[in-house]
Amino acid sequence: MVFSEIMYNFNKGVVLITGAARGIGEAASHAFAQSNTKLVLVDIDLEGLKNLKNQLISKMDQKDIFIIKTDVSDPNDVEKMTEQAIKYFGEINILFNNAGINNRIPLADVSYEIWKKMMSVNLDGIFLIAQSVGREMIKRRKGKIINTASMSGFIVNENLNDGVYCTTKAAVVMLTKALAVEWAEYNIQVNAIAPGYTETPLVKRLLENPKIHKELVERTPMHRLAEPHEIAKAVLYLASSDTTYITGHTLVIDGGYIIW
Ligand SMILES: NC(=O)c1ccc[n+]([C@@H]2O[C@H](COP(=O)([O-])OP(=O)(O)OC[C@H]3O[C@@H](n4cnc5c(N)ncnc54)[C@H](O)[C@@H]3O)[C@@H](O)[C@H]2O)c1
Repeated sequence: MVFSEIMYNFNKGVVLITGAARGIGEAASHAFAQSNTKLVLVDIDLEGLKNLKNQLISKMDQKDIFIIKTDVSDPNDVEKMTEQAIKYFGEINILFNNAGINNRIPLADVSYEIWKKMMSVNLDGIFLIAQSVGREMIKRRKGKIINTASMSGFIVNENLNDGVYCTTKAAVVMLTKALAVEWAEYNIQVNAIAPGYTETPLVKRLLENPKIHKELVERTPMHRLAEPHEIAKAVLYLASSDTTYITGHTLVIDGGYIIW
């Protein structure tokens, strides 16, 4: 994945990205790699992280890439991850808190186990990573955090049995506001992105259904779905020094889908 132009210069700032191994996290990793950063790449998929590191080596110095296998929903794993990242780079300046899952089951049928699993990755995971990395940012009185919510935090996805997913994402929107308020005094800005349907492995099976694909495209005012690099560009914007007075905001990137 090559971004046509270098969008920002982060002056060797340390960026930690969760869910980095594929999809939106992978695209953001490439974009940050082209923007003069050091990267901490986090995922449960170690093979995926190794592949990504191999790709990024053409864009940046190998020693500026640190990969860590971590389950964002496991508090012990998350603590160890932050410790290791701090030991390696000394600080974390930007957090793209992005890992997430989906499981489409009607609310009447979903088991409590699956409900808890979804909450533990999509909400607890966002909280645990934000708290653990945020404590390091608080010590240094500086930081930028971008959480991945979804347009599904604002609407219920029609006919997709996404009730649990939508609930987790709405919570991420509120958590982003709450963190922004509590950490403003430490010079930490906390924002979120809310992507619309984006062509990644997460929605691959859904989009393979031609009827659903066509309906989603037709319902989108811009008449197409998003590419991961389009979401990544918004993440870099929120992480950049161009956004000095934005906090607690969730930026919807959906081709207009939720307008109507
Ligand atoms: N693709 C879309 O249409 C879309 C739309 C709105 C929001 N989102 C959100 O964007 C984020 C990224 O989604 P994507 O489409 O790139 O998905 P994806 O499935 O392609 O990638 C998600 C990555 O997160 C990792 N992951 C999953 N559980 C984890 C855990 N417990 N610990 C650490 N890593 C874990 C996976 O291994 C994977 O590499 C998610 O939060 C998702 O909910 C996606």
